[in-house]
Amino acid sequence: MMAGIALSIATHAAEESAAYAVRKELPPVSTKKGVTFDKDIKPLFEASCLKCHGPEKAKGDLHLDTREGVLKGSEEGPVVKEGDSANSVIVKAIARINPKTMMPPPPPRKPRPGAEAEAAKPQPAPPKPLTDEEVGLVRAWIDQGAK
Ligand code: HEC
Repeated sequence: MMAGIALSIATHAAEESAAYAVRKELPPVSTKKGVTFDKDIKPLFEASCLKCHGPEKAKGDLHLDTREGVLKGSEEGPVVKEGDSANSVIVKAIARINPKTMMPPPPPRKPRPGAEAEAAKPQPAPPKPLTDEEVGLVRAWIDQGAK
């Protein structure tokens, strides 16, 4: 019984760390034609990004709910280089090339001091990291001119 619980926790942790694993290189560009923000990209960002980059308050002042918001970029500047996904900040972030800047950020491993009780409660599922196919689709969107 106890062993079963321990095993399922270990399996869950392994799955979670695999999802947040750092990639060595960018996943390939999707071959899908006619990729648009509203049709293809918005649903991905809704699932994984809008919790922190929504229409109102947005981390880094980066709003990812509209095409205009994405193209406007963050307080640091543009995150999309139209036609050049390999050199777009947002692609490097979602591809998780650099563990320090990967998006969505991995959930904290340990609760903040004083927040242990809060952390012990059931938490909403953390935003889902993007799969290779999803990163490839964002790349295709940018390479096709971010329409
Ligand atoms: C849990 C909250 C959270 C989620 C979810 C999240 N982000 Fe972020 N994001 C942040 C924070 C915080 C920053 C600002 C980091 C800083 O200023 O150092 C940031 C910054 C960024 C930046 C960098 C802006 C710059 O110019 O340096 C990009 C790009 C970005 N996020 C994209 C995304 C994308 C795309 C997703 C979804 C796949 C996402 N984020 C999901 C919290 C989040």
